[in-house]
Amino acid sequence: MKYDPAIEASALPYSPFKSCTVPRPIGWLSSISADGIDNLAPYSQWQNLTFDPPMVMFAANQYPDGRRKDTVINAEETGWFVWNMATYDLREAVNISAMALPPEQSEFDIAGVTRRSADLSSVPMVAESPVHFECRYLSTHRFIGNSKVGTIDVVFAAVERIHIDDAFLTADGRLDILRIRPLARLGYHDYTSVTETFAMHVPNASPEADDGLEGQPARRSGVPSMRPPH
Ligand SMILES: Cc1cc2nc3c(=O)[nH]c(=O)nc-3n(C[C@H](O)[C@H](O)[C@H](O)COP(=O)(O)O)c2cc1C
Repeated sequence: MKYDPAIEASALPYSPFKSCTVPRPIGWLSSISADGIDNLAPYSQWQNLTFDPPMVMFAANQYPDGRRKDTVINAEETGWFVWNMATYDLREAVNISAMALPPEQSEFDIAGVTRRSADLSSVPMVAESPVHFECRYLSTHRFIGNSKVGTIDVVFAAVERIHIDDAFLTADGRLDILRIRPLARLGYHDYTSVTETFAMHVPNASPEADDGLEGQPARRSGVPSMRPPH
């Protein structure tokens, strides 16, 4: 089968689009409003953009009535949000945190997760998550969709502080992914988590390229990391 999504629906009973780019890591994002109300929500339209400096993005669809998502408004108003790593053990809390709540209620309380103070802003972090990124808001790029919910705010941010729970590091200093068991989004109502990993090396890669893939770009190149000003 094939179809042109801009002009027709697929012939399938459910749109296959969200089931094609899978698994998608989950941006489990905490933020705080200008009035001090904290917020937590999952975003599967979430990605790394680059690593030096580390930058991330997420795309938030508008609500059907045209309201923008609170995470976007909070990031724009306060300049900060936190990415909390979603894991299989935290799957129920991740799911519950997607509920649309009245402004006086916080997803932290409904999802039953613990607030931990961030270092660089007053955004609370999910204490139970093994990894957190403190993200400084950079900009929003708005794309108008074919419908109100199709319209998105793409938010770009710089990762200014990374917290990793030492209990989830291996003896040789890598993230212990099989113990963390990161949660990821599939299509429909389906999810997966990482329960298997394997390694591959690009044939004939230069030492610099090989180091970059492994995560040590500065060691051989000697190029100092650039940090954007606060
Ligand atoms: C696993 C999962 C992934 C989601 N991903 C997105 C997403 O990428 N973009 C989006 O706009 N909403 C997404 N949602 C829905 C939001 O989490 C939901 O609208 C939430 O209430 C938004 O909260 P906020 O307004 O406090 O930011 C997702 C929901 C779930 C359960």
